[in-house]
Amino acid sequence: MAKPRKKADDWWRGAVIYQVYPRSFQDTTGDGMGDLRGITKRLGHIASLGVDAIWLSPFFKSPMADMGYDVSDYCDVDPMFGTLADFDAMLAEAHRLGLKVIIDQVISHTSDQHPWFVESRSSRNNPKADWYVWADPKPDGTAPNNWLSIFGGPGWEWDGVRKQYYMHNFLISQPDLNFHNPDVQEALLKTVRFWLDRGVDGFRLDTVNFYFHDRKLRDNPPHEPDPEAVGLDAPDVNPYGMQTHRYDKTQPENVAFLKRFRALLDEYEGRATVGEVGDGARSLKTVADYTSGGDKLHMCYTFDLLGPDFTADHVRKCVQSFQRAVTDGWVCWAFSNHDVNRHVSRFIRAPEERERIAKLAITLLSTLRGSICLYQGEELGLTEADLAFEDLRDPYGIRFWPAFKGRDGCRTPMPWQHGEAHAGFSTGKPWLPVPQDHARLAVDVQEKIAGSVFNHYRATLAFRREHETLHDGDMSFLHSNHDILAFTREKGGEKLLFVFNLTHEKAEFVPAKSLKLGAPLSVPGFGAKLKDGTIELDGLDMACVRL
Ligand code: NOJ
Repeated sequence: MAKPRKKADDWWRGAVIYQVYPRSFQDTTGDGMGDLRGITKRLGHIASLGVDAIWLSPFFKSPMADMGYDVSDYCDVDPMFGTLADFDAMLAEAHRLGLKVIIDQVISHTSDQHPWFVESRSSRNNPKADWYVWADPKPDGTAPNNWLSIFGGPGWEWDGVRKQYYMHNFLISQPDLNFHNPDVQEALLKTVRFWLDRGVDGFRLDTVNFYFHDRKLRDNPPHEPDPEAVGLDAPDVNPYGMQTHRYDKTQPENVAFLKRFRALLDEYEGRATVGEVGDGARSLKTVADYTSGGDKLHMCYTFDLLGPDFTADHVRKCVQSFQRAVTDGWVCWAFSNHDVNRHVSRFIRAPEERERIAKLAITLLSTLRGSICLYQGEELGLTEADLAFEDLRDPYGIRFWPAFKGRDGCRTPMPWQHGEAHAGFSTGKPWLPVPQDHARLAVDVQEKIAGSVFNHYRATLAFRREHETLHDGDMSFLHSNHDILAFTREKGGEKLLFVFNLTHEKAEFVPAKSLKLGAPLSVPGFGAKLKDGTIELDGLDMACVRL
């Protein structure tokens, strides 16, 4: 396998991170839900892809109203996923295979079943009375201000005991913690230390820009459109997108907290953070604020490449806007995760393009400057599952159906073995169905086919590892027509030209005379197409040439 390539502390820079959604990865108990032992069993599959790390979505104790993003105990494993001993075994096996493990810290809010909230809501003068965002009603009894929940409706819920409202950015059962209270920060950092001591290599920080709210609880203004923005807001079925979120999130106080977080991490060796920034048009500025200076987060991801657009113009705009805004920071690019439609389905125009798009997308992602996140199943070229309303489990989808069907379509179980019940995911009925066309794409099928999407992922990630310049080399765009994406990556003695044609028609790229073209480089799955100094490309094609 690939050669080790980084200083121990810097492993995250340019890393390939594979996201595991534990509930849908591998079940070992027959209850239809994935578990930690299942992850351990399948770590070999992940390692065989040649990735550096895994990111585990939450496996903590939780009533599962938001599939574990509603934590009721930060320091224990939910019984449906196993035990702390199972976690330790999984971690040890991952490390044995050379994989780092990043876990998901969901600290902006807790579950309403968390003992902290149970105590907080019990009276106005208990020791944790101020641990959440409580506020009196307006004189007419309505909510303190106009803040909205991302999952629909007001961002406030009335509590009859305290006779006050509490704030929630997501479900009513996900009350927001009050980060202005130093005791809350202390308690959360203690839970982070718990996992650091257990040996995790880092954290994905859920909704990292939502930690603080405006102390004065000012109303958000209506949405002010920004034509230059690349960031995505909530889907337009959701009135959340009708506000500029000036006061309910991304408050300046967060920077000081992130420094505290980093100082704690730096007591340990080689630990890293990746923050999730959902901040619409302001996302890049927020990433710059959070990742500059080497004293806050290591890297962040935004929703820029998680939308429907797979054009040269869009990718160039995202990367260039990032380069302008974030001069001293680091990004983690992704096309898919557990919150968005699978990218193959977002990008294809017809079903027969599935394989081609899957391959082109991972090749493009692997050549961008930044770390990258892959989402389980994308290495098989899985499409978005089309689920009936009766099958839905995501409260977000249930709330906005049929205008928006939520996130279950990308969360269906991994297909491992074509011939087995539920494609080898579980011997019991899975919590979400395994689509038939996913079973045909199972790992055991694709392993045997030389040109499968799965083998393309392995070869492409090996190509990335072999070329040091792709980890953290400079990236510059070249002048090209709008439909073509042409850029160089350069580090040390190596300089590579990449040209992508994301359209469906043939195209050519004529490099400037000043560029001294060297030998074409064969990139897995895409032949070399240099003819008389011109790069000729088919539709949905790419090429690489040494400079
Ligand atoms: C972002 C997570 O990715 C998403 O799945 C979750 O619903 C929200 N945060 C709330 O925690």
